[in-house]
Amino acid sequence: MMIGIEDLIDQTKADVITWRRQLHKYPELSFQEEKTAQFVYDKLCTLKKLEVSRPTKTSVMARLIGSLPGNVLAIRADMDALPMQEENSFEFTSQNPGVMHACGHDAHTAMLLGTATILSQIQDQIQGEVRFIFQHAEELFPGGSREMIQAGAMAGVDKILGLHVMNHIPTGKIGIVYGPAMAASDTFDVTIQGKGGHASQPHLTIDPVAIGAQVVTNLQQIVARNLDPLEKLVISVTTFHGGTANNIIPDTVTLQGSVRSFTKDVRQQATEQIKRVLDGITAAHGATYTLDYHYGYDSVENNVAITRIVEETVENLWGKQAIEDMTPLMGGEDFAFYLNEAPGCFIFIGTGNPGGRTLYPIHHPKFTIDEESLAIGVKLSVHAALKLLES
Ligand code: NI
Repeated sequence: MMIGIEDLIDQTKADVITWRRQLHKYPELSFQEEKTAQFVYDKLCTLKKLEVSRPTKTSVMARLIGSLPGNVLAIRADMDALPMQEENSFEFTSQNPGVMHACGHDAHTAMLLGTATILSQIQDQIQGEVRFIFQHAEELFPGGSREMIQAGAMAGVDKILGLHVMNHIPTGKIGIVYGPAMAASDTFDVTIQGKGGHASQPHLTIDPVAIGAQVVTNLQQIVARNLDPLEKLVISVTTFHGGTANNIIPDTVTLQGSVRSFTKDVRQQATEQIKRVLDGITAAHGATYTLDYHYGYDSVENNVAITRIVEETVENLWGKQAIEDMTPLMGGEDFAFYLNEAPGCFIFIGTGNPGGRTLYPIHHPKFTIDEESLAIGVKLSVHAALKLLES
């Protein structure tokens, strides 16, 4: 049985590279993945035994119902690209100006197409169902995953897998994280209302610049002094705008920032303490404020039992040395919302080739991956799927 699967993986390897290059050449932005979705749909329709559908305008789903009874495993790939100009010169460099697959979603989509190609040929060995979710709009809030869930993509799903390419992990290694894997990512906008006036008469004003500077400093106290040092939290103030001239104290300043956390408690603590700092500092100096706090993606929490099965699969295929023990990443991922529906695991596929061109991280204009890693991602997906359906 296993020899058959290995042959199928070998046969699919070149196609996966071709598909990835094709997708890379014609990237599309979040919620606009029309040609990408059509490409995926057309490829899936050539495969036997799949029920292919279009849950939303720019997404695709395929169900592979096995010959044997069992539970339902979903595997998700994201398909969108980023609004940036590619600086690589390949024959498959982006042909769409200002749009680039700089986060490897082209690779995710190609690998899941490869996985579907292989599993659909061994449908007689499948216990239960494998559901292939090709999701739109991971990069742009509110993200595509919640629309997929609303459209029924997770109905009846017992477990879910997702993966992401990672250039800081060498090709051949697989990054495994137990529990919290990626952060909840929230943002905030603050306006501090003071009272403007002449720079020479500060006593007649309420200076929002001086007050804003204290707010920035005191927000850092939340992480440094209020949070349990064994917990993880980032609060970054990323913009500070106000004023027009040397001799004018402005009426208002605006601040923006980002908050990253892993647990509900820390997330809630952060929002409450941001309010407390704003209340206290502005009141102390006679100013007022408005706060718009925007909850973004939830944190990605890997299920321990499912992660263990993935790790065992990696060990069985390539040995213990193929495991890269990872610490959680502070980046956000809308895969989080699937994990509110069913337990699962988000896996990191090593795509870095130290001798090659893969020195650049995701979201860099020269980002690219080691294509040797694509077959590894497919092989892991196929074997992990079979193992998770057995368990
Ligand atoms: Ni990504």
